[in-house]
Amino acid sequence: MKSVVTRAVVLSLALVIPTAAALAQDDQVAQGENVFKKCKVCHQVGDGAANKVGPILNNLFGRVAGTEEGFKYSDAMVAKGQDGLIWTPEILVEYLEKPRDFVPGTKMAFAGLADIADREAVAAYLLTFSPDYVPAEGDAAMAEGDAATTEGDAASQ
Ligand code: HEC
Repeated sequence: MKSVVTRAVVLSLALVIPTAAALAQDDQVAQGENVFKKCKVCHQVGDGAANKVGPILNNLFGRVAGTEEGFKYSDAMVAKGQDGLIWTPEILVEYLEKPRDFVPGTKMAFAGLADIADREAVAAYLLTFSPDYVPAEGDAAMAEGDAATTEGDAASQ
């Protein structure tokens, strides 16, 4: 009898968990869209996006830093790319804490986002504009707490 109940609980959990994970991800993207309002002053994404004060952020992930065509970058950002900086969600989360510490000499005039949840959310939002991005083998999951969902997604690709 007990085992039947246990099995029923396990089964219902199995049905609930993927939905909860998907919802959590949607929430994060929505939060990221909100955070992106701070970036929108300078950056565009989506259909018809153009380079403005900052470069287009469509297809950001997988891009070598400082290489969006038609955008005039600082020497510092170009040098970062030449040194091998390729944008990934993880690196973006690091960069956005204090952009001018991460890329000394960048002309991105943005102090940074102190809250890691905001940085991860904006990375999750921007990921929806990088449809062709495939994380390289061995890339760290975006955050410890998100490891399960991020890895689950990677595995299903
Ligand atoms: C005040 C304008 C401004 C704001 C606000 C701003 N950026 Fe930028 N961003 C720039 C400029 C200018 C550059 C080019 C930097 C350089 O060449 O050194 C840049 C570069 C970048 C790059 C490098 C892209 C590439 O092609 O290598 C990323 C990524 C980025 N910004 C993300 C963001 C995100 C995310 C936000 C919001 C949290 C944001 N930026 C807010 C102006 C801005």
